[in-house]
Amino acid sequence: MRNLTQDNITQAVIARFAQTPDARLKEIMTALVQHLHAFAREVRLTEEEWFRGIDFLTRVGHITDDKRQEFILLSDTLGLSMLTIAMNNEKPAGCTESTVFGPFYVEGAPHYELGDDVAHGAPGVPCLVRGRVRGLDGEPVPGAEIHVWQADAEGKYDVQRSDLREHLARGVLQANDRGEYFFRSILAEAYPIPDDGPVGDMLKATKRHPWRPAHLHFMIKAPGYETLITHVFRNGDPYLDSDAVFGVRQSLVADWVKQPDGTYLVEYDFVLPRDRRAAR
Ligand code: BEZ
Ligand code: FE
Repeated sequence: MRNLTQDNITQAVIARFAQTPDARLKEIMTALVQHLHAFAREVRLTEEEWFRGIDFLTRVGHITDDKRQEFILLSDTLGLSMLTIAMNNEKPAGCTESTVFGPFYVEGAPHYELGDDVAHGAPGVPCLVRGRVRGLDGEPVPGAEIHVWQADAEGKYDVQRSDLREHLARGVLQANDRGEYFFRSILAEAYPIPDDGPVGDMLKATKRHPWRPAHLHFMIKAPGYETLITHVFRNGDPYLDSDAVFGVRQSLVADWVKQPDGTYLVEYDFVLPRDRRAAR
């Protein structure tokens, strides 16, 4: 096909995908072309702006490696990650909601006994975290595997410290026979997402801040139940309504209660749905 115009190029590109054997791939490519072209038309994209967009994505690629995932950060700050999570994690009422995974989970974190201090020397105000893992009918989920990770008082995850050889403020625990868990750690504090790259440039150019409200990350796994990836947020944090990655859910906000000795206590119960795939 020759002499395509701005009026018929979209249909011509879509037609090029007509023979795609994988129906889902065909659907995705067709919609992608449709929406990309509609976007360019809507903003009347100039060639210079198109090139700046290409340059931006090139910089996102260049800064990405196995420790820094700028594409996910871009998806997070555009709300695409949370939209995808929300669409794919609709759970029965009463279940704990999911939120973003984030880039700072690492495989192979140390295993701890209930009551241990997972901070393992990370700077911060001591804090006790406890609660229960339950199913929707209230039944305890004995032995649930609980992965927890968090930033320290300086707003850094251990993996962001180049001098570090040990895992700090992260670990894996097992709930007891009654589904209870408890561990010591440090008080969660608000911190900025990495903003020294192109995503940070985008935030600055649009007068957005990079802060995430204080939170603990949890991933909870138990046979027969759906895996839960979520956070517990700290009530009163000034960034709860403007999280840089749009991850806050009111049901995930908990009180961190200051104790007479200056340490903190937070209690949170997790409710997991039965694994719907297993039931099919
Ligand atoms: C986090 O909470 O660890 C996180 C989530 C999304 C982007 C950056 C950090
Ligand atoms: Fe985080």
